[in-house]
Amino acid sequence: MSVRFACCIAALLATVSPLAAQAGPDPLAPTGRWSAYTRGAAARPPMGWNSWNAFGSGIDERKLLASAQVIVDTGLAAKGYRYIDLDDGWWLRRRTADGRIVIRTANFPSADIGGGETSFRPLTDRLHAMGLKAGIYSDIGRNSCAQMYSSDGLNQPEGNLAEREVGLYDNIDRDIGLYFRDWGFDLIKVDACGIRGLTPDSPWVSSGKMRALGPFIDSESLGRTDISTVRSLYGQVRQALEKYNPDNDFIYSLCLWGSADVRSWAKDTGNISRTSDDIAPTWGRMLHSLDSAARRPLYAHPGSWNDPDMLYIGTGDFDADHLTEARAHFALWAMLSAPLMIGYDLSKAPPALLDIFGNSRVIAVDQDPAGNQAVLAFDTDDLQIFVKTLANGDKAVAVVNRTGGPISGGFTADQLKLLKDADIALTDLWTGEQHSFRGEYKFKLAAHQTLIFTAHGTRRLAGGFYLSETPGIVNPAADGVLVPEEEPLVYRPIFWAGTHGSGEHPRYGGWGGAQPDQTPYGLNLGIGRQRFDTGIGILANSRLEVRNQGHARFSAQVGIDDSARMLSAPATFYVYGDGKLLARSPLMRFGQAPFALSADVRGVKLVELVVRTPTPGIQGRPVTWGEAALLD
Ligand code: GLA
Repeated sequence: MSVRFACCIAALLATVSPLAAQAGPDPLAPTGRWSAYTRGAAARPPMGWNSWNAFGSGIDERKLLASAQVIVDTGLAAKGYRYIDLDDGWWLRRRTADGRIVIRTANFPSADIGGGETSFRPLTDRLHAMGLKAGIYSDIGRNSCAQMYSSDGLNQPEGNLAEREVGLYDNIDRDIGLYFRDWGFDLIKVDACGIRGLTPDSPWVSSGKMRALGPFIDSESLGRTDISTVRSLYGQVRQALEKYNPDNDFIYSLCLWGSADVRSWAKDTGNISRTSDDIAPTWGRMLHSLDSAARRPLYAHPGSWNDPDMLYIGTGDFDADHLTEARAHFALWAMLSAPLMIGYDLSKAPPALLDIFGNSRVIAVDQDPAGNQAVLAFDTDDLQIFVKTLANGDKAVAVVNRTGGPISGGFTADQLKLLKDADIALTDLWTGEQHSFRGEYKFKLAAHQTLIFTAHGTRRLAGGFYLSETPGIVNPAADGVLVPEEEPLVYRPIFWAGTHGSGEHPRYGGWGGAQPDQTPYGLNLGIGRQRFDTGIGILANSRLEVRNQGHARFSAQVGIDDSARMLSAPATFYVYGDGKLLARSPLMRFGQAPFALSADVRGVKLVELVVRTPTPGIQGRPVTWGEAALLD
């Protein structure tokens, strides 16, 4: 149904708004504005090198420049690896007279600019002259992670307690100005250890080594985490970055390891955001990082990406003796549209590893301009199939064998949303081999093997795209999750505590978030017993923003999802175009057949899809935008 009179609609909405009784703007009210972060230089996932996985706090200028030089000499820079990031371990102290940070010149000699002053400008000038970009590291608290967790104390800040407070807390504007305006950095990674563990009874505080702060984050409990304070602190860094980078040439990397429900707000705050605790060079920890990002494609867009952590290719389970695992790690990060940050001493890299980092076909999948993170088309603990829609309409498909033994299977045209009775041309991105199939492509995988292809066929939806194929243009501005819950579907390897305690538990907020092709709780989509293999699953009391790039019509089959059971409240579905109501459903109840909703979106830039229940203040049950699509 199409309604023309915006004034009447506004009055109608005021009476049904679930949040009308609450203070502040109604998050379900259409804004006509795409709200995911687009400032900074991250239209594509950042690529480069970071010192941490290779050197830890043992980093120095010589080691950093050696890897930078290999990146230039081997042609990796020309393939997109541009950011050379200095991680933890670079600082000497904060000068208490004026609050200025002093660099450890013993390890970074070019930073000694005379007169007792230090500056990274000579180093960033050098990197810029090599055609590269420069990244630096800090912490949102007063102290950094290595200050708290380093086992050998190597290269940790020196001096009295105040001099050792090198993190951003209380110094955000000063430090960001120093790093970007004065020293010329292009990227900052902002860690969060300083607001996590510094309770009065912690060993660091009780020993007098550090001051207590917060803690605002409790990695094991969203309930004990002060999400709004964490969000506000990271928001202050964003503001400072925008102030000191009027040319927009910056990247803001949030590193709070999936805590503080960052999944729900990072996409509005910065360019990349860590989804998990630290990766380690083991297969299980790689799977953990993978899983922490894999079910969040709707939370990644050009400008704001999920970051499952830096690459560990070259080390441990991903070293030159484990090329199968190294290729799997690389291919999966490309499917996730993850930042590709090499974490290896490239001066030692054998050609086989350089070939992996340099595979242009796989890099192109990561860097595809549409920015659609791959969607899980098939999901089991043993084998997964990821499908990513590329800007030219082709698909990238990756099949991963998570197990330690061989496995066989097949992927279907349906899973690729391609027609099954037409030829599909496949290109193997590792070997360059071409294949062709109809219906189903059978494969055999060795232990830990990932195959990755591009696929060209006939699209199942001629003249349009299902929204679940294009998560890069769909933003769950309000996903209906009022009470953040930990995501249970993340592989749990042994973490820091070893086998002490009761084991690893779910730890990253995100359960119940919006999903392509499945419900917010990972079930098949269905309305009134009609199953949908494509659509967006979301909770009621939600608002999705959808960028329309010239399509004429939006259509969907909407209703309360069958998984909602009898607990469901009824809900109404609304379609807005640039802030104006275009169509709405009747009040939909559990078990009712889907309602066909359709709207003319010609000339509309932003479509908004809103679902409201009449009952204010409750977390909505799953609802389904079945077969939601933008059509020519
Ligand atoms: C944390 C981060 C790592 C690294 C270290 C540095 O653990 O998650 O990526 O930056 O701190 O101390």
